[in-house]
Amino acid sequence: MLWIPSVDEVPLSIMDAKEDGTVAVSVKAVGEATRVLHQKRTGETIGVRGPFGNSFMMRGHKILVVGGGTGIAPLLFLTRNLASKAVNTTFMLGAQTKGELLFRSELQKLEKKKVRLLTSTEDGSSGLMGLCTEPVEQMLIEEKFDMIYACGPEQMILKVFELAENHKVNMQASLERLMRCAVGLCGSCVIGKYRVCADGPVFTSRQLREVKHEFGLSKRDRYGKRVPLD
Ligand SMILES: Cc1cc2nc3c(=O)[nH]c(=O)nc-3n(C[C@H](O)[C@H](O)[C@H](O)COP(=O)(O)OP(=O)(O)OC[C@H]3O[C@@H](n4cnc5c(N)ncnc54)[C@H](O)[C@@H]3O)c2cc1C
Ligand code: FES
Repeated sequence: MLWIPSVDEVPLSIMDAKEDGTVAVSVKAVGEATRVLHQKRTGETIGVRGPFGNSFMMRGHKILVVGGGTGIAPLLFLTRNLASKAVNTTFMLGAQTKGELLFRSELQKLEKKKVRLLTSTEDGSSGLMGLCTEPVEQMLIEEKFDMIYACGPEQMILKVFELAENHKVNMQASLERLMRCAVGLCGSCVIGKYRVCADGPVFTSRQLREVKHEFGLSKRDRYGKRVPLD
């Protein structure tokens, strides 16, 4: 949880962590807090609480990673770890347009370490044209993966989940919900019987099945009311 004094506190995924305790995050300016954060200069004060919640569990020898938007940040961290263990990994990186294909050069550096990088853009400006879930479907027909990891827009995660279920491949997905306390007390982040801050943000296929009446469909607003997902 990153605190921007006088403004707000926002949940962010860890993109990188060093043994000396240094942590990197990657932030998209979407609202008040993230815009103020973008204007901060070196030496200005921010606060940090955490880390909270769980993380991806590394399982299997042949892995498919699917990421879109700022969801790519935690997947980059995961993929670096998979690459360090020489796990056979395919990374499907999707975006609306070429400029939004985040961390492409960082992922390309991992291509020497058993990481295969595929890109897709909705406007066709780079890589395959269309949604990244289309090549994922083709890959699941042609290859057998031990595990799929996903993070990004929830509609994308839902589609990947449906494909994974059809092809009987286990999945872990990192979800986003409104967060306030981040320690499991306030209920802002609830999805079904789970709290995304304390039980997640990473959920397994079994857990996603348990929350399918909300997953990809609804979230809680600032007043705790269930509202449709954007
Ligand atoms: C577990 C978790 C991990 C996250 N990791 C990251 C990360 O690594 N990097 C990152 O940039 N963001 C991440 N987010 C999202 C981030 O927390 C929000 O973008 C942030 O809280 C928005 O705060 P704000 O005050 O700037 O915007 P607000 O004023 O709260 O919202 C402004 C507008 O932006 C919309 N909005 C909010 N979040 C998003 C979003 N993610 N994408 C598009 N529109 C949005 C809101 O619906 C609203 O309309 C994560 C969220 C969660 C729950
Ligand atoms: S943010 Fe308060 S319970 Fe999750």
